[in-house]
Amino acid sequence: MTKILRLHTAQSKPDLWETLKSPTHPLSAAWPTFLDQDKYFQHYCEKLDKIEAFAAMQYAIVEVDAYGKENIIACGRSVPFYWPELDQIGGKKGLRQHPEVLHTLPDEGYDAILSRAFEQQLAREGTVQDMGVVMPLPDPARTRTEPPNALSAISITVSPKYRSQGLADILIMAMKQTAIELDYDAMVVPLRPTRKSDFPTIRMRDYLSWPAKVAPGCAIYQKENRPNPNLPFDPWLRKHIRLGARVIKVAPKSMLVEGSVEEWQQWTGVKFSQLIGNTDTPLKKESGSGKMYLEAVFPNGLVPLRYYVDEQCCVYQEPNIWLYHELPLGSLCAEAIL
Ligand SMILES: CC(C)(COP(=O)(O)OP(=O)(O)OC[C@H]1O[C@@H](n2cnc3c(N)ncnc32)[C@H](O)[C@@H]1OP(=O)(O)O)[C@@H](O)C(=O)NCCC(=O)NCCS
Repeated sequence: MTKILRLHTAQSKPDLWETLKSPTHPLSAAWPTFLDQDKYFQHYCEKLDKIEAFAAMQYAIVEVDAYGKENIIACGRSVPFYWPELDQIGGKKGLRQHPEVLHTLPDEGYDAILSRAFEQQLAREGTVQDMGVVMPLPDPARTRTEPPNALSAISITVSPKYRSQGLADILIMAMKQTAIELDYDAMVVPLRPTRKSDFPTIRMRDYLSWPAKVAPGCAIYQKENRPNPNLPFDPWLRKHIRLGARVIKVAPKSMLVEGSVEEWQQWTGVKFSQLIGNTDTPLKKESGSGKMYLEAVFPNGLVPLRYYVDEQCCVYQEPNIWLYHELPLGSLCAEAIL
């Protein structure tokens, strides 16, 4: 039977987003529980479809069942923001002379761009107080009121049953299309590489440089049946690169989740208390602060969790990768980035 799929936004179909609020919905359950504890995610993400100016940038792919009912099978979230450094060089045309401007993307990747997009929008509307925005990052651009000039992807999720069918491509391209239609100068992504959790002790910078052929069975072939050394090992990063993205830099502090040992045990199912009680676990000293900590790898963590001994708290600071997607109008900027 032919499947009927449709692409909606939170503007065209606001009610659809309510179903995603259930933690048991396959699209919500696709994410590890510990990531849901990121304060910026908690504070802002639920409000994405409620802000009028953002609604057209929240996408859902639905499958229509035999009774005509639409069920969400994939979703993509993105936010518009004002990027002053890009504006100062004259937008995408200026990137030819100033590609270094792309490096002004914040080290606090995901958290910073969510926070910047929201705070700027509320400052434009003059409604900052109404939303109770209380978590500013040290980002000088967060109170700017100029119209957005860039779009940042926030997340893409495909229901497990519907993966590997091109739905992720549709969502990435829908975001790009929106950025083009709004005449933005850039689209960026604080990317969470999907296979990094298999290698939690490898530095993100090193992981990023792995070519696709590094692991047995993971050679990615070109048309001539030779491994393509230009594609990265990580499949999600590879997907974006095939759709025109360029890697800009690592965002070392993209997401932050803090909690007690008990909370982390609850979020991950891992008995961290045993690790902490184990005298064989080597104690490390944090450069800069001098704080002492123990490290533990755990399922779905891109890097190990740190347990700070004196503070008795666990801190997970997730690095992501900043990507820049060329917008087709920018034949000029395509050259600039390379
Ligand atoms: C990441 C995600 C959106 C990709 O959706 P998808 O429909 O599987 O997308 P694709 O089929 O285009 O797959 C992308 C690449 O990942 C590969 N891939 C998919 N599932 C994989 C898996 N379990 N292990 C390894 N590679 C996998 C695909 O082969 C493809 O690589 P290729 O193009 O080089 O062949 C989906 O896996 C997902 O929702 N994951 C949970 C949420 C998440 O991590 N989102 C990404 C961060 S925002």
